[in-house]
Formats: sequence, structure tokens, C-alpha cells
Amino acid sequence: MANLLKVATRDEVPDGRGLVVLTGGRYIAIFDVAGQLFAIDNRCAHAGASLGDGFLEDTCITCPWHGWRYDVRSGVCLSDPRYRVRTFPVQVVGEDILVEF
Ligand code: FES
Repeated sequence: MANLLKVATRDEVPDGRGLVVLTGGRYIAIFDVAGQLFAIDNRCAHAGASLGDGFLEDTCITCPWHGWRYDVRSGVCLSDPRYRVRTFPVQVVGEDILVEF
């Protein structure tokens, strides 16, 4: 059975960047794309950089270290589709962001 944990509130997620939170024993990055929220594993599949510190454009996050790009909806690496990062379902209840693990 999945766990649903509150990780943040909507106002904590910055525009054009991610919010990195430690929850459920792992770091995840939360992104707000035109009001829709997405959660992915924060660790880049290339060399482990923090994807939440990358640069968000539409649904694409660009890793701050070497520029690999990921679709935050699917976790698929757009630079090399052999790679992906895990995604997590997100629910919003009022202002609270809940992530399912
Ligand atoms: S660590 Fe992300 S592209 Fe290299």
C-alpha cells in the first residue's frame, strides 16, 4: 500500500525551478508547470546532480551540471531516452502538496 506524505505547500515551489525536499528517506524535486505539480527523483541519472536546482522550461528540466534534459511528467531523459528518473504521483489538498510513495 502506498504512502501519501505532505511534502510542501504550493507557495514554497518557486517559478522556473524545483523545490527539493527530503521525504520518505529520499530527495525528490517538486515542479510547478503552469499550476500543475510534478514530483521526480532529485538525483540526475548521469552523475547525481540535484535536478531541483536545474532550469525548468515548460515540462523540461535541464540538469545544472552537464545539461541532460528530462521531462518532469514522465521522468524520461530527453537527452538519452535509455535513462529516466522515477516519478511520483502528486495530489494537492488545499495548499498542501502530497506525494505518493
Ligand atoms: S549530472 Fe546531470 S547531466 Fe551530468
